[in-house]
Amino acid sequence: IIEQIRALEVLDSRGNPTVRVFVTLEDGTKASASVPSGASTGEHEAVELRDGDASRYGGKGVRKACANVNDIIAPELVGLDASEQAMIDRLMIELDATDNKSRLGANAILGVSMAVAKAAAQSRCDDLYRYVGGSEARRIPVPCMNILNGGEHADNSVDIQEFMAVPLGAPAFSEGLRYVAETFHTLKKILEKRGLATSVGDEGGFAPDLGSNEEAIELILEAIEKSGYEPGVDIAIALDSAATSFATDTIGLYDLKWSGAGRMRSDDLIEMAERWVEKYPIVLWEDPLGEEDWEGFVKFTKALGEKIEVVGDDLFVTNTKFIRRGIETGAANASLIKLNQIGTVTETVDAVRLCIENGWRAFLSHRSGETCDTFLADFAVAMGSGHLKTGSASRSERLAKYNRLLEIEDALDGNALYYWK
Ligand code: PGA
Ligand code: ZN
Repeated sequence: IIEQIRALEVLDSRGNPTVRVFVTLEDGTKASASVPSGASTGEHEAVELRDGDASRYGGKGVRKACANVNDIIAPELVGLDASEQAMIDRLMIELDATDNKSRLGANAILGVSMAVAKAAAQSRCDDLYRYVGGSEARRIPVPCMNILNGGEHADNSVDIQEFMAVPLGAPAFSEGLRYVAETFHTLKKILEKRGLATSVGDEGGFAPDLGSNEEAIELILEAIEKSGYEPGVDIAIALDSAATSFATDTIGLYDLKWSGAGRMRSDDLIEMAERWVEKYPIVLWEDPLGEEDWEGFVKFTKALGEKIEVVGDDLFVTNTKFIRRGIETGAANASLIKLNQIGTVTETVDAVRLCIENGWRAFLSHRSGETCDTFLADFAVAMGSGHLKTGSASRSERLAKYNRLLEIEDALDGNALYYWK
């Protein structure tokens, strides 16, 4: 039974305010959860409520969202059974009464939703992944490690936002994590040797200035090999173009502004992707086109959907309404899943289920602005989705999730499953 709910304004990994919620149950259980925040956000994401008061944090304060938790949500939830997750989430959605959670803020609502789930799990002495996923939850996701950053996550000359190393040939999660962490370290040495920057972007991947986007892939392949792994067999590559961030106002027209490669149409980007998939061991491509380019997505999926996983992020924003449209039109064959794009645990579970029931994959994801909260790690195991992305082998807010997965693997004591597909 929920006794108290309190929210506090804390700072995320970019030093921007975010919401942390504390839940206390009558049996003495205490749990807290912190909400992440994106940079390359989709237009249709649930609304992250910011104060807009320029005298504090450049307008990014979240005191209003915290007050909404303390003054509006808490009084309604105190006295309820914390294990009634769906009912509690629905109550908050009704209290907000907007389509996009703009009244109370998705940051306020999600903070409560996650903290309630954690409290309920703890009160039953259950791990969160078992509480949410049941006793059969034992598949540890393949860690798609974002080791080279570009786009809006870095200040360099690379357009594609994320270059991920995917240890799909490893025998277990802990081994896979080692494969890609070693690759990350080798990549650093290669960059150093060439006089390229080894500073990191928002998600902890390196952010060097390169001559082209393709050079990033070449460097990563070299790092994989020099680490003693076989590209495509031990470690493959995944990309997130986050193409909305270089889309022009004309749907289907893009401007690769960071590299200076210039304007490209959807068809040009698809052709480029076909060439790359032929040439490189790419297994997954997220947001190859912008959020409004549904037609481009359909074409892309027709061209490459048999060969690789095509993931919609900004296109679907973890919203069953858009995922359903994607399934009907064949706009992708997987959806990215981010809790704060939709704003409650229950709706996120619904989005994952919709994917899986339709033969799609669900790719669990952190945000570029994070905290050391490890909810995502447990949630990914609970959903059994097979893969997640939570940044590089640097920055503790990223490692916190990988380390939690190591703990879960260890706790499963030989019963953990690990496979790509
Ligand atoms: P974001 O980036 O958290 O800045 O939106 C992550 C992504 O695009 O997948
Ligand atoms: Zn993305």
